[in-house]
Amino acid sequence: MTPILDVSDLTCQFAGVTAVDDLSFTVDRGQIKAVIGPNGAGKSTLFNMIAGVTRPTTGTISFDGSRIDALPTFRRARLGIARTFQNLQVFQEMTVLENVMVGAHTTGRAGTMSAIFATLRQQAEERDLTETAHALLTRFGLADKAQLKAGALSFGQMKVLELARALASDPSLLLLDEPAAGLPHGEADRMGEIIVDLNRNGMTVLLVEHNMRMVMSLSHDILVLNNGRRIAEGDADTVRQHPEVLAAYLGESEDA
Ligand SMILES: Nc1ncnc2c1ncn2[C@@H]1O[C@H](COP(=O)(O)OP(=O)(O)OP(=O)(O)O)[C@@H](O)[C@H]1O
Ligand SMILES: [Mg+2]
Repeated sequence: MTPILDVSDLTCQFAGVTAVDDLSFTVDRGQIKAVIGPNGAGKSTLFNMIAGVTRPTTGTISFDGSRIDALPTFRRARLGIARTFQNLQVFQEMTVLENVMVGAHTTGRAGTMSAIFATLRQQAEERDLTETAHALLTRFGLADKAQLKAGALSFGQMKVLELARALASDPSLLLLDEPAAGLPHGEADRMGEIIVDLNRNGMTVLLVEHNMRMVMSLSHDILVLNNGRRIAEGDADTVRQHPEVLAAYLGESEDA
């Protein structure tokens, strides 16, 4: 079966820094695959290249069997790739509902002219988007907050809101960059449960996370990066005992 994501010989160089270095891996449909590694390992850069924010220096990225590495971000979103950000990107002045609808708009066919020429079809589309957004908020226990400004939410609620926004485009691949970062234990565990639940319902997840309890408990497969290169890949037990992984993390704690 064709992997949903196929990254091949991917390199990203910034001035003087090789952030991702000749990296190849695949993600199978239905997997939760984690990408871990010390700070600066290249995890977010990898996500940015998959989402289309950063152009690879060399290498290819295929989604569902087709090359996507030259496509703009919005085309990748329409194909079914959605993401959340390491640094929370919630529109604080917009309502909670509007924040989710921004995500749904990547699939709407009405385009930017909808505000000006609101045809019946476009209005119907808008109604669908509102319904979708409401359903997501209900699913994540934020329905009663729909009309509040997003800035009024707690940090944990904003992290969930960002996830709801990513889901609003009805993606088939979800890139989560540190969904549990900054969350207290209980909320991090709840985030883990949400991810598992999404996956049980068919979502493929690529997860970057420093919370090892979460990574080890819910990932089917783990890719470990250090200095932009793969140092290990496999299940939790394989990765946990890998000498290079231990060395990379020990090195990090000595630096800290
Ligand atoms: N836009 C940029 N310009 C220059 N260097 C960058 C840029 N983005 C990232 N880097 C560098 O690339 C390397 C990888 O950074 P990246 O953010 O991908 O790491 P990361 O694994 O996500 O780290 P963290 O766990 O801290 O989030 C780092 O050395 C970083 O300083
Ligand atoms: Mg990062």
